Amino acid sequence: MTRESWQTRIGFILAAVGSAVGLGNLWRFPWMTSENGGAAFLLVYLGVVLLVGVPGLLAEFVIGRRSRRNPVGALSDLSNSKYWSAFGHVFVVTGVVLLSFYSVVGGWILRYFAESFTGAYFANPGAHFDAVSYGLDAVGFHLLFLGVTALVVLRGVRRGIEKATKLMMPAIVALLVALAAWGLTLDGAAEGVAFFLSPDVGFLRANFFDILPQAAGQALFTLSLGAGTMLTYASYLGEDRSLVADGTAIAVLNTLVGVLAGVVVFPILFALGSGAGAGGPGALFVSLAGAFAALPYGEVVGVVFFGVVLLAALSSSISMLEIPVSFLVDEYGVSRRRAVAGLLGVFAVTGSVCALDAGVFGVVAGPLVDLLLTGGLVGFLLFAGWVLGTAAVEELRRGAGSFAQSVATPWLYAVGVVIPVFLIFTFVSGLAGALG
Ligand code: PFF
Ligand code: NA
Repeated sequence: MTRESWQTRIGFILAAVGSAVGLGNLWRFPWMTSENGGAAFLLVYLGVVLLVGVPGLLAEFVIGRRSRRNPVGALSDLSNSKYWSAFGHVFVVTGVVLLSFYSVVGGWILRYFAESFTGAYFANPGAHFDAVSYGLDAVGFHLLFLGVTALVVLRGVRRGIEKATKLMMPAIVALLVALAAWGLTLDGAAEGVAFFLSPDVGFLRANFFDILPQAAGQALFTLSLGAGTMLTYASYLGEDRSLVADGTAIAVLNTLVGVLAGVVVFPILFALGSGAGAGGPGALFVSLAGAFAALPYGEVVGVVFFGVVLLAALSSSISMLEIPVSFLVDEYGVSRRRAVAGLLGVFAVTGSVCALDAGVFGVVAGPLVDLLLTGGLVGFLLFAGWVLGTAAVEELRRGAGSFAQSVATPWLYAVGVVIPVFLIFTFVSGLAGALG
């Protein structure tokens, strides 16, 4: 059977942006920013996206396009080494871990989308979230979210992922712009924007080494790096186009959506006088939901907001499910249908564990994901730098313009040496900070 491929270049870009834009931008980014000094965090984060994110994205693209395989097949085919092949299996685990917690949050979003119509959380958002976030209800909504994800992936690369993301991405951007326009008219909006966009240099200086690991973790998560999704998506590229151009476009679009999300969220929070204080995973469901309850036209805004978040979450969750699906299809010749069905069974269980227990959820969604993404990306970088070497440079140059031709060799040194050292250093210092 011939392997699937994207129908169009824009289809690939939108699918990759769909993977990148998600709860990371709309849920994690605003509360991480608010806990880390607002614009100071934004600045560090932008630096990491540019210097680590884009080169890292290119490493995954190069490995994916060169091998035309899932992460396991890619690492083993291109290296002929049983150690790299074994390491590749980590990405199957990463896919499972990611979707397990992500579809729990996706389930919350689904619930809040529905409840924005009825106003069920309006009276007491804090108590409501406490009551529904973990337990059998959460299991049910998690299964529903997972089911929708599976339906898209079941239809394949072109008819499923490409078609769905092509519809979702423009809708997400248009609705976010509309929400931002509304939010900016609220009293107190200016304060919110200032908190988000004008950096406090003193704060930045004093806390740089606390901010850095958080910004790095956020940059990897938001760009879907280190999981093998971007590798897998690039493996479906039929023609040779400029990976540098596509990768840059994807990073820029993802960043714009993140900034746009901040411009939506902070004015709403400041308008209510709650400031940016209420952080943590509940921020969206407590502070923001509370704002919807209190503000004029809050129901409508709530429906639109949670609708946007739902679309963004789905276009990311399908990319997570595609990692183990492509693995089963490529390596074991399983049909897509069977692969999806079998994995659905796995995720029904692993996700439910996260949906039942806040403690498990916290460990999975936090330290475990950080560890897997950092370790995964370091693996891809070293693979591109040391196993592929000049072949990686050649792959990056294929179909690319003059800018890409000239940065290809410096890029190889960056991914082979500088960025892995940076990532390991940052991760360890973050760990030391968290423990000490
Ligand atoms: N980038 C997604 C987000 O920001 O929500 C999360 C994500 C998707 C991470 C896919 C990793 C991944 F492989
Ligand atoms: Na993102």
